[in-house]
Amino acid sequence: MKILNTKVELVREINQLKSKGLSIGLVPTMGALHQGHLSLIGESKKRANITVASIFVNPTQFDNQEDLVNYPKPIEEDIRKLESAGCDILFNPEVEEMYKDHEVWDYEVGDLDTKLEGELRPGHYKGVTQIVYKLFKAVNPDIAFFGQKDYQQFLVISKMVKDLALHIKLQLCDIVREPDGLAMSSRNVRLNKEERDISVVLYKALEYIKQHYTELSLQELQQNAARFFEKNPLLNLEYVKICDKESLDLLQEKSPNGAIALVACFVGKVRLIDNMIIP
Ligand code: PAF
Repeated sequence: MKILNTKVELVREINQLKSKGLSIGLVPTMGALHQGHLSLIGESKKRANITVASIFVNPTQFDNQEDLVNYPKPIEEDIRKLESAGCDILFNPEVEEMYKDHEVWDYEVGDLDTKLEGELRPGHYKGVTQIVYKLFKAVNPDIAFFGQKDYQQFLVISKMVKDLALHIKLQLCDIVREPDGLAMSSRNVRLNKEERDISVVLYKALEYIKQHYTELSLQELQQNAARFFEKNPLLNLEYVKICDKESLDLLQEKSPNGAIALVACFVGKVRLIDNMIIP
């Protein structure tokens, strides 16, 4: 695997590969890689000739400095994982390589920025679109892979690709879960044993909604799911909602197009999110 740290090196390498007619798959990450990321690498290897992974802990998408400082950065381990997954190129730039001082990014995220994660993490999607646009420009991928755990992020990036007429296909890939159901996340390593054990509640609440979807009303489903988070002082539920899959508006009535249930919750100091598509 080639490891490149600058955009100049990366662009040179990609141009050479593209001139040979090879297609490029991009898996953008912030590192601390787990099986979920590696499954995206696997998808990219199936769909593109060359797989590029990026590892960059993007400061502009953190609304909470403590979260940024504590974000895990096990780069040597990540490199080993990418190599054994068969990744071809790792792009691993420093902050100064990606950002100039006082840079302005004026892409309007729009409506999605006012809901769920957008509402609770002001500026988060502005930062995500800013870095993903830069990565798209540097890598010039034919296709880019994102995990369903960050479903709202996928919708935001899809909208950006459309708004800015970028010629890049996007693929949403399934959530990879631990054997007990907890969605894999780089933040899981920050949970202590007690927090890790209780974290499965996010999955259980979503499963409850899915199992009882036809027999209960939307209001009952959401209220009952919220009860899963009561009585444990380690849990601080931010939302558990059933929404339209495209707009992420709260669903007012059950729709033949299905729905998505989404949850965000602090477990101790660690904020976890998860979701489940209801067919
Ligand atoms: O999903 C992530 O890990 C990040 O938000 C992304 C897409 C790599 C942008 O920093």
